[in-house]
Amino acid sequence: MNQNRVHNFSAGPGALPLPVLMRAKQELIELPNIGMSVLEISHRSDIFNEIIQTTQKNLRSLLDIPNNYHILFLSGGASLQFSMVPMNFLRNSGETAYYMVGGTWGEKAIEQAIREGDVCRLWDGTSEQFSRMPSFNEIKPISSGAYVHITSNETIQGIQLQSEPTFGVPLICDMSSDFLSRPVSVTNYGLMYAGVQKNVGPAGVTVVIIREDMLERIPDGLHSMLDYRVHVAKDSSYNTPPVFSIYMANLVTEWLLEDVGGLAKMSDINQEKADLLYSTIDNSTGFYIGHAYEDSRSVMNVTWRIEDKTLEEKFVTEAYDSGLYNLKGHRSIGGLRASIYNAVTLESVHALQGFMLDFQSRWE
Ligand SMILES: Cc1ncc(COP(=O)(O)O)c(C=O)c1O
Repeated sequence: MNQNRVHNFSAGPGALPLPVLMRAKQELIELPNIGMSVLEISHRSDIFNEIIQTTQKNLRSLLDIPNNYHILFLSGGASLQFSMVPMNFLRNSGETAYYMVGGTWGEKAIEQAIREGDVCRLWDGTSEQFSRMPSFNEIKPISSGAYVHITSNETIQGIQLQSEPTFGVPLICDMSSDFLSRPVSVTNYGLMYAGVQKNVGPAGVTVVIIREDMLERIPDGLHSMLDYRVHVAKDSSYNTPPVFSIYMANLVTEWLLEDVGGLAKMSDINQEKADLLYSTIDNSTGFYIGHAYEDSRSVMNVTWRIEDKTLEEKFVTEAYDSGLYNLKGHRSIGGLRASIYNAVTLESVHALQGFMLDFQSRWE
């Protein structure tokens, strides 16, 4: 029935688990015992309320989120969080916000923060073409300030933080492209956010996990839609939330819990997939060249070049003809990129590995 589905390495929106798509397809006509789809009911109905609560419960269970953290489902993408974070925690604070700029998304985050107050680059990987994440002894300790902002996985460059830092000020993390790919210690963070379109569902909703005491730092006078306190008070239904994306996130979190068996298991599978591709690059005797330093390699986005760059277009075209889609690197850095999010199967990664070996044998 699904013989036409291709191997999809899209960086986002990314592949979704097939069992989730099948269930959504069925429930798009009629939710069990409801007689309507989720697209046709009020976001204030008991039915939708239960979907929100179950999604929150699933997230709490997957990430072991304590009760002093609120879970919000907001619109505007992760990009709106680039503005909301400094509006809520930097504006009028009289303090400095520290940003770790490890790649394109960290850069975009700091660009917005600059509009709200005093900002300092805690780390900047620009001069090294964003090819690695810092180790934490390279970063000066921060014991006062509004917050530290980090990006755990830089989707475009394919570099990922390998450990979780702690600072003496609230830590805020953009986890858009590795959220739910591995266990994290939520209690290290004052706030974390993730657009769901990589690992958790279709575009349209951003999950924000915020510690209760962070709300006390928010200045009065913010527009309601931009004030975290409003969304906490209204449990993400101050306005009409992105109902379909939340419903899908509910199904994906259920899939992670029940089919996969939790984030530790998901993390092992993701590592196995990444190892397959990185070992193929490493064993290619220079035919393929990885972008990231080994100790910063992303388990979600594998980025590499072909030594003879003129072969890259051919690689993408031939891969496409073999049913391997979306392998072109981001337009800003070129090269090749395979995004191997949670829903990308081992089978797909084996298929890509086989293609890489075959391509090398024909063109080196
Ligand atoms: C790490 C990271 N942050 C932020 C964004 C922006 O997300 P959105 O398009 O939802 O605003 C992306 C999108 O790819 C991303 O990968």
